[in-house]
Order: sequence, then C-alpha cells, then structure tokens
Amino acid sequence: MPVSKIAIASDHAGFEQKAEIAKWLENEGYEVFDFGPFNDDRVDYPDYAELVADAVVKAQAELGILICGTGIGMAIAANKIPGIRAATLTSTDVASLAREHNAANIATLSGRFVDLATNKQIVEAFINSEPLGERHAERVKKISALETRRPVG
Ligand code: RB5
Repeated sequence: MPVSKIAIASDHAGFEQKAEIAKWLENEGYEVFDFGPFNDDRVDYPDYAELVADAVVKAQAELGILICGTGIGMAIAANKIPGIRAATLTSTDVASLAREHNAANIATLSGRFVDLATNKQIVEAFINSEPLGERHAERVKKISALETRRPVG
C-alpha cells in the first residue's frame, strides 16, 4: 500500500535536517505531521520519539521519521512503545531491508554523521519499500510476541 502520511520529529541535533526533510516530503505530496521541535533549543530525544511512535501506533501516520545526533537514542526510545519497530538507517540498502524484512515502521536517522542528501535518499528508499511477508512476516510476529513476554525470573 502506498504511503501517504508521515510523522516526523527530532531533537536539537536533528533539528536542521528534520525541517528540510519535512519540507521536502510535503513538496513531494505527502501529508506530514511535524511533532517538532520548532527551534534548536536543547531538548530530550525520548519526548519526541514518544510523539512520533504514538502517531504511528494510532495510525495517524503510516510511517515515522526521527532524527537525533546518531539516530540511536531515538530508536532505543521508540522501540519501547508496543507496535513500534524503529531502525537506525545509514544506507539505502539497509533502509529497504528494514522495511522488507523487519517491517520497520519508524526510520531513525543521524543528523550529525550522515549528510542531508544521503538521509533524503535513505528516506526515499524506506518509504518506497514494503514488507515482503512470508517467512519475514512470521519473524515479525515473533517480535510482536516479545512485547507481551513475561519478565525474566
Ligand atoms: C544529543 O546531544 C545526543 O545525545 C542525541 O541527539 C542522540 O544522538 C542520542 O542518541
């Protein structure tokens, strides 16, 4: 199914690229939900990861994009929300595979170590790939089952 609605947010380290990517996606015709921040004041990335994760879980958007310094903190935080499969993406090949094999629904990007042009290509590959199903779908079901696993001990 083609993607039409995308949620996006960042922290201060991803703020500049977030603004550019949000504008570019809008020009490309996507409905973009920008959850901020709207200036480069220092903020805490888990607060913004939660906003985009909630939008994806509630189906306000089909996919999410989160940008921090490395992309890693955003992924760790977003993956705490049941239903979220966030992947830190640093190449177009990995972006496609994250959708195809892992049914990732949030791309997390590095605003400090990956340039804007590359991140746009990564986002394009992510949006234009679809989960492959079959054996991969079975594995994704097992990921979902881990969300309700009893605590160790
Ligand atoms: C902020 O300095 C930085 O820690 C944050 O953007 C991110 O890289 C965390 O993973």
